[in-house]
Amino acid sequence: MDKNIPLTIAIPKGRLQKYTMTILEKGGIDCSALKAPSRRLIISVPGTKWRFLLSKPSDVPTYVEYGAADLGVVGKDTLLEGGKDVAELMDLKFGQCSLIVAVPEASGISDVKELDFNSRVATTFPFITTEYFNRHGIQAEVVKLNGSVELGPIVGLADAIVDITETGTTLLENGLIPIAEVARVSARLIANQVSYKVKHTSICQLMRRLQKALQTQNAGQEG
Ligand code: PRP
Repeated sequence: MDKNIPLTIAIPKGRLQKYTMTILEKGGIDCSALKAPSRRLIISVPGTKWRFLLSKPSDVPTYVEYGAADLGVVGKDTLLEGGKDVAELMDLKFGQCSLIVAVPEASGISDVKELDFNSRVATTFPFITTEYFNRHGIQAEVVKLNGSVELGPIVGLADAIVDITETGTTLLENGLIPIAEVARVSARLIANQVSYKVKHTSICQLMRRLQKALQTQNAGQEG
């Protein structure tokens, strides 16, 4: 049995963090230590096997791939972009949004096929974007940015963007409209490939609890 073997979970800082703590608590993991104001990046839950590692979201798969964390929570967009060797265990259903291609509304473009030859596309997801445009037979120059991608078309850096949209507010307020959906994304539970084998009992127990929490949540939403 592996029930007392320590387990480290990489928690994404930022917009997914609150939802991650909520689902983990529903799965029976005390997250109160994570809620206390602190700049510490490694936090153990006293008297339990659980340890949290607070990471920049895009680094979660790296910590998990190299075994610095056994488990992690990360957006499917980051997984698709990263190409890391991790086990994708569960769709946690929160953090739902779309990865889209958007253009300035004023461009009059309504389909990716209307983009000019060698259009410039700004994105924080160069791998996904290149793959998407190649798959659609569209020649595009992909420009990597690290955030505030919507700025690209406004300042003439790019003709289009590939980015995440959740409420659509950022697109709207920057005069952009979506013209294609690249992927639907949501948060995923991932595991280190070795940990998943060696700590299988504990990880499966957590997954069963999370599955149950998601079912209860869905039933609550439907009822
Ligand atoms: C994300 C994304 C969009 C925005 C979309 O940015 O890159 O800019 O949220 O959300 P909305 O559709 O609800 O307006 P984030 O706030 O994570 O910061 P970033 O631009 O620096 O990546």
